[in-house]
Amino acid sequence: MTAPTPPWNTSRPVVVLTGASSGIGLATATELAALGYALVLAARREDQLGALARRLDPSGHRVIAVPTDVTSPDSRRALIAAAHAHFGRIDVLINNAGVTVERGWWWDDPDPLRVLRVNLDAPIELIRLVLPEMRGRGSGHIVNIGSVAGQAATNGLYSASKFGIRGFSLGLRRELLGSGVNVSLVSPGFVKSEMTARARLPMPGPDIVARAVASVLLRPRREVLVPRVYHLFAWLDRRLPALGDRLVRRLIVRRYDHSGQ
Ligand SMILES: NC(=O)c1ccc[n+]([C@@H]2O[C@H](COP(=O)([O-])OP(=O)(O)OC[C@H]3O[C@@H](n4cnc5c(N)ncnc54)[C@H](OP(=O)(O)O)[C@@H]3O)[C@@H](O)[C@H]2O)c1
Repeated sequence: MTAPTPPWNTSRPVVVLTGASSGIGLATATELAALGYALVLAARREDQLGALARRLDPSGHRVIAVPTDVTSPDSRRALIAAAHAHFGRIDVLINNAGVTVERGWWWDDPDPLRVLRVNLDAPIELIRLVLPEMRGRGSGHIVNIGSVAGQAATNGLYSASKFGIRGFSLGLRRELLGSGVNVSLVSPGFVKSEMTARARLPMPGPDIVARAVASVLLRPRREVLVPRVYHLFAWLDRRLPALGDRLVRRLIVRRYDHSGQ
C-alpha cells in the first residue's frame, strides 16, 4: 500500500515546538507525543532532533523534525511552511527555545543580545507568522515558556528577556480575548537541563515543566509557575526586595561559574 501524500489528514491537534532537542523541549515533546499530539519539532541540532522524532514516531507521519534557527527569518518561515506542508494547519505554537549567557558575566559576552534575539524576538516573530491563520480560524493556542526570572530578577540580560516575554504574553492574551486564540505562559524555576548544568542547586527534572505544558493545553492559563514552591520566591521578591537581593545573590548568582570573577 502506498503512503498517502501530505498534508496528513490528522484530527489530532498539531503542535509546533521550538527548542525540542534537549531539556524542557525534549521532555515536552516526549510527553505530548505520548498524549497523541501531532508534532513539528524545531531546534538547530539536526541529529538530536531527527533521532527524537524517529524515537517518538518511527512512521514519520505524526512527528516530524524541522531543523530551525529561530533567530533567522528565513528559517522561521521555513519551519511554519514545513508544518503546513505536512499537516495543513497549526493548532498550537510552543515557544520554548531559549539561551542564557554562556559563561561569566553578560557584559563580557561578545554577543549578549543573542539572549534577547532567541528568548524574546524569535517568539514574537513566530507568533506573527501563525496569528493570521489562528485568528482567521477562530482557534489556536500560543504557549510561551518564560521563567521565574521574569518575576524575580536574576541575571540582567536573561531577566530582561523573560520579563519581556512575560509582559508580551500577558498583554497578547488580553488583546486576543474573545478571538478563540488562547495565550498561556509557563514560567519554570530551576530544573535540570543543559542550561542549568553548572548551577549547584537542588532541581527537579524537566518532566515537571512538560506536564505543566500538557496541562495548559487542556486548560489555558494566564501564567503557571512550576515547581509551585517558586510562588513563594516570587512573592518574597515582590514584598521584601532586600531579602530577594540577598537570596538571589547567595543562592543563584554566586552558584553559577562566573569565570574571571
Ligand atoms: N532549565 C531551567 O531551569 C529553566 C528555568 C526557567 C526557564 N527555562 C526556559 O526553558 C526553555 C528551555 O530551556 P532548557 O532549560 O530546556 O535548556 P536547554 O536544554 O539548553 O534547551 C534549550 C533549547 O533551545 C534550543 N535553541 C537555542 N537556541 C536556538 C536557536 N537559535 N534556534 C532554535 N533553537 C534554539 C536548543 O536547541 P539547539 O541548540 O539544538 O538549537 C535547545 O533545544 C528556555 O526558554 C529557558 O529559558 C529553563
